[in-house]
Amino acid sequence: MKSDDQQEIIIKSLNQISTIDLASLPTPLDEARRLADKIGLSKLFIKRDDLTGLAGGGNKARKLEYDFAEIIKGGYDVVITAGGIQSNHARMTAAAARKLGLDVKLVLGGADFDIPKGNLLLDVLFNAEIRYLVDDDANSSLEKEMQKWADELLNDGRKPFVIPIGGSTALGALGYVKAMQELAAQIESNNVQIIVGVGSCGTFAGTILGAKIFMPEAKVIGVSVSRTVDAIKNRTIELIRECSDLINYKINAEDCSIECYDDYHFEYGIITETGRQAVELAANLEGILLDPIYTGKVMAGLIDLAAKKVI
Ligand SMILES: Cc1ncc(COP(=O)(O)O)c(C=O)c1O
Repeated sequence: MKSDDQQEIIIKSLNQISTIDLASLPTPLDEARRLADKIGLSKLFIKRDDLTGLAGGGNKARKLEYDFAEIIKGGYDVVITAGGIQSNHARMTAAAARKLGLDVKLVLGGADFDIPKGNLLLDVLFNAEIRYLVDDDANSSLEKEMQKWADELLNDGRKPFVIPIGGSTALGALGYVKAMQELAAQIESNNVQIIVGVGSCGTFAGTILGAKIFMPEAKVIGVSVSRTVDAIKNRTIELIRECSDLINYKINAEDCSIECYDDYHFEYGIITETGRQAVELAANLEGILLDPIYTGKVMAGLIDLAAKKVI
């Protein structure tokens, strides 16, 4: 089959999967000339997914467009999700639930607050009911607590829908397959390197798959904010396999090149010195706000990989 024909078939499959409007798309692609000069790159563009618009924006809006379509279609009345105490995913899920008139429950790894700040303040503003796992905030414990809460709600006659940590399901990852279709239309050549942050792996998996389909010459490079390279590779391959099945795209996920680096974080949520400097640099040279937990670390990785001529 000719690759244009194959792309048409994939686009058709992709468009058949329901979404619900939550994000302002397309997000802009901004050239960052001053930052590129400073770190020794000939060209640097930033895909402004901080401007997706849902309650302050961020990458999760694209994934949630798929999850909430399922939630509305299935007639669920309460959404449960989990994350770190300052989770972007939790904040955006809470906002999406409220926008669609649904109840929302969050399981957060960390201590209850005296004065809520940052995303936690927004979770409270969205009137999410929150359970805090203070002593045991491992992902498996968060998942277990979500399931327990869902069972309690079922017993009370409610219809709960659980969105896994980070919204990183195969369905959610489709949001980033579509984002690559969007990016391909914004960029002259697809012979580029795409640097993306990696937490729960859905964004990375969707970006790799989407690039394979819509920007075949592009190379995707992940920068971890929490997991090891091995853990990322395993989960990303799993998600690529499941996600490609959803759109009937035949690839051998094991053959996908998964290039990622885990040198730019210390422990999830801990601010690093290089991450802090990267946040300052982007603010001072481009007027762009990065955050210290995700995008600051990704920028720190980008700066170092540029210095090492990997990029
Ligand atoms: C701003 C930002 N960038 C990147 C990521 C990583 O995305 P994923 O969890 O899909 O790997 C997250 C996850 O919360 C995020 O909030």
